[in-house]
Amino acid sequence: MKRRDFVQKGALSAAGAVLASRTGWNSAAASGTADSRIEVLFDEPLGTISPNIYGHFTENLSGVFYDGIWVGEKSKVPNINGLRSELIEHMRKIKAPVIRFPGGCFADSYDWRDGIGPMEKRPRRTNFWNAVESEKSPASHKYDPNAVGTNEFVHFCKLIGAEPYLAANVRSLPASAFYQWVEYCNSPTGSTTLAETRAAAGFPEPFRVKYWGVGNESWGCGGDFTPEEYAVEFRRFTSWLPTYGDELKLVASGPNTDEWSWTREFLKEVVRKGTGQLRRIYGMALHHYAWNLSRGKTQDWDAGKGDALKFENVDWFELLREGERMEGLITGHWQVMSEFDREHHIKLIVDEWGPWYRPGSEMTPGDALEQTPTLRDAIFSGMTLDIFNRHPEKVAMANCAQLVNCLNSLYLAHEDQFVITPVGRVFELYASHQGGESLRTVFSAPNLHYDRNGKSTSHWGMKGSASVRGKELTITAVNPSPIETRLTEIGLHGATTNSASMSVVTHSDIHAHNTFQQRDVVVPQTKTLTLSAGGLVVEVPPASVIALKIMLV
Ligand code: AHR
Repeated sequence: MKRRDFVQKGALSAAGAVLASRTGWNSAAASGTADSRIEVLFDEPLGTISPNIYGHFTENLSGVFYDGIWVGEKSKVPNINGLRSELIEHMRKIKAPVIRFPGGCFADSYDWRDGIGPMEKRPRRTNFWNAVESEKSPASHKYDPNAVGTNEFVHFCKLIGAEPYLAANVRSLPASAFYQWVEYCNSPTGSTTLAETRAAAGFPEPFRVKYWGVGNESWGCGGDFTPEEYAVEFRRFTSWLPTYGDELKLVASGPNTDEWSWTREFLKEVVRKGTGQLRRIYGMALHHYAWNLSRGKTQDWDAGKGDALKFENVDWFELLREGERMEGLITGHWQVMSEFDREHHIKLIVDEWGPWYRPGSEMTPGDALEQTPTLRDAIFSGMTLDIFNRHPEKVAMANCAQLVNCLNSLYLAHEDQFVITPVGRVFELYASHQGGESLRTVFSAPNLHYDRNGKSTSHWGMKGSASVRGKELTITAVNPSPIETRLTEIGLHGATTNSASMSVVTHSDIHAHNTFQQRDVVVPQTKTLTLSAGGLVVEVPPASVIALKIMLV
């Protein structure tokens, strides 16, 4: 069969047809000629995708906890022990695997001892983020009431079925406080005074917290250390910790974006006490925010930022361009790590990622750092999750910054109002990758062209990832073209399709977003695909994130 015949006889997805007619853009699809191809190579497995790549980050910052997660037991907002029920429900749906707490920069000001014991006795402390709050912000954002401490946070995780990932304070507490935090969380029932304190709060069973960050951004808000100084602190904080039979997975504070020297000098200093020291490090953190939308005009942290809601086509591509740096950061830091850790015992933990816009799009006035995610952020998030999926041997965990009422949030919430953002919708589409075997997959599509600073600039036309779990194949991809539908052939080498469906997150307006009043502007649409002997051909609408779920024979 000739290629043209194959395409014409191949079944076009009903979902694609509906979406294409809704968006109304002309495209190659109209002519029935495939212009792109996704080729899944079943005999080239890349490794198992750690479910933790789909992790989250919750910092005690502005409206993340107070309003977002914690509403209080007496609230009229439906809650489970003070924790917002609707949020818990949706996080269960996306199988949220791990959640990081309490920061971020907040972590290195936090004393976990303030957040345990009877609520009415907990002290109020000046929040690290106090200075960014405004006169519109409630007092709980400026002065931490400590209503959410270790017990409440771990309980939140357990209700969801997620693992807690706690970040220890290296800048302003001694190593003994870290030791005792581990003891409080993990010592067996009735074994220590701290286990009894935990039991008195209603938690006799050990929390068995496995993941521990040792400081945060230690090159900056976490202490302004040099990599060598931090390595000395890391060794000291981790040279002896109680394990109670479970291995602790310790995460070293990693570089900001492309500071290769942080990774290199940190590891160089760590191994000055012998290469055995490397065994203590489960992961090296990496943070990357796509914040500079100035198209190369400035490196100024404030001036470089763009607007979350008001943007041109060029800003759409600029954000993806900034976000795409993630792949080079992963491979680059991995390479530096291999200079010391040839067997790659240490994994990468991308525990903060997402776009960071200038203030102004907060849905709740007074929520510092809150921004309203649009379809652009959905594409960005799909693209980033696909990058993680493509490097399963390197990335062991990633935490989207941040879960609710903050940067790249999956949810926005205020009092009794709650909305799932386009980012949250993408996490729904991608959940089936968790624990799957990542497969090398070739995406071919024509490049796109746009005007950047007066020059025609090209951008890739489609990217994604694929994984298989038993008989279920998941292919996810993004079409970054704001106007062109891609008619895409799916090539499955070494497998036969039984049934297939496609879910799509898209909209005819690239600025589309969900609000408290209009919660369903950007929602996934799912359709069963009709199979034919010719194979599978799907329409991928402009500005979309897709997930194909294919059951194999
Ligand atoms: O996510 C907001 C802040 O960004 C975090 O507190 C910090 O780690 C990073 O700089």
